[in-house]
Amino acid sequence: MDTLIKNGKIVRSDKTFLADILISGERIIKIEENIECEDCKVIDAKGCYVFPGFIDTHTHFDLDTGFTKTSDDFNTGTKAAIMGGTTTILDFATQDRGSTLKKAFDVWTKKAEDNSFCDYGFHMAITEYNDYIEKEMEEIVEMGMPSFKLYMAYDALRVDDGCIYRALRRSKDIGAIIGFHCENGDIINALTKESRERGEKTTYYHPRVKPAEIEGEATERVIAIADMVKSPLYIVHVTCREALEKIERAKDKGIKVFGETCPQYLLLDISRYGDIDDKSFEGGKYVLSPPLRDKKNQDILWEGIKNNIIDFIGTDHCSFNFKGQKDIGIDDYSKIPNGIPGVEHRFYLMYTEGVMKNKITLNKMVEILSSNGAKFFGMYPDKGEILEGSIADIVIYDPDENWTISYKNQYQNVDYTPYEGFNVSGKIKHVFLRGNHVVEDGNMIIEKPLGKFVKGKRFDYDRK
Ligand code: URP
Ligand code: ZN
Ligand code: ZN
Repeated sequence: MDTLIKNGKIVRSDKTFLADILISGERIIKIEENIECEDCKVIDAKGCYVFPGFIDTHTHFDLDTGFTKTSDDFNTGTKAAIMGGTTTILDFATQDRGSTLKKAFDVWTKKAEDNSFCDYGFHMAITEYNDYIEKEMEEIVEMGMPSFKLYMAYDALRVDDGCIYRALRRSKDIGAIIGFHCENGDIINALTKESRERGEKTTYYHPRVKPAEIEGEATERVIAIADMVKSPLYIVHVTCREALEKIERAKDKGIKVFGETCPQYLLLDISRYGDIDDKSFEGGKYVLSPPLRDKKNQDILWEGIKNNIIDFIGTDHCSFNFKGQKDIGIDDYSKIPNGIPGVEHRFYLMYTEGVMKNKITLNKMVEILSSNGAKFFGMYPDKGEILEGSIADIVIYDPDENWTISYKNQYQNVDYTPYEGFNVSGKIKHVFLRGNHVVEDGNMIIEKPLGKFVKGKRFDYDRK
């Protein structure tokens, strides 16, 4: 049966307007005022906003760190995503050193296939670069993964500058884009060693061994390498002025560099790690890398969004339970598994803290939560905008009902949320995934996961 969404305020990245939406099968087939349809299932969206399904460009589900495994797998993580209006996630399929990218794809496909409530795609994280991988990258792009990630920190994951140079040169030739985790790994190692030698144990020290300067340095370095080979790139999880101003300067010079930030860097700050005398382990909940920064960076990042320095928002959802996982490092902050949850709450936080507080417009919100992710990672115009012919990934949202985020009311499979007590505006009433009604009146109405692998097209160099 076809579906007719009536009287909603449709929000696109370029405009907001009142119209009806007719869905047939997987696609939107008509957007007009006063559509009539006798045999349709009719959803009354009067007073509601109608958004394109949101795209989270950055998740880590079912990730084994070697010591422990994220508490959310694809099943629980994508259910939480859908309940928060996210209809597509991009997870990081990570190469094992000594192994191939195709093997990583197979492993991640096994985790995600028939086990995902929203659609999913992968960025391929390369942890060892060599002639074989260089060749294989093209096949990976052809298989529908036009984006890669390289780490500049974490000894188990990072590659050196020579590899970065080669990978960027290669990515340009094959129509791919690489995202970089920008922190100077050598300096982190030196600072951490000195900190441990001084006997420092508490979470207060986590951000002190990973200061903003080393994020700024790595960001500047990778942009310079990309400029040498004239390759586009993007910077994942930008946290601070030191990184943002490097991206801004590069954009001004015409370098094709793009920026992602995350809600945690816009809304939470370094005080979460406690002060120097704090002996509690509360700060363990916020241990991630790069760490939360001094509060003054928050306004700088919001401005960066407004001025198109930051292009999209991912969550970097990487959840570990506070009890039994984070507390592996209760006596040593450097052993705490890095990462925090957030896939369920991204839209609510960005709407309440961004749109309601006049930091961004509704249309900008759609751009950074959906349209730009779709464009950068080869899914547009199928996804990322409400257009005739697009896939019917749709969120219907009632802005009038307010509620409070708590670990007690979340779908994320983790025993805390970093946003505990945040009051948020509005409630998602309905979610459609490829035309399937999956959330009705705020409740998940399907039992079987319907998410499919999304093949991304090659990166479009001339789009910006
Ligand atoms: O602490 C974090 N962000 N963990 C996830 C891995 C990463 O660096 O994105
Ligand atoms: Zn990272
Ligand atoms: Zn990440």
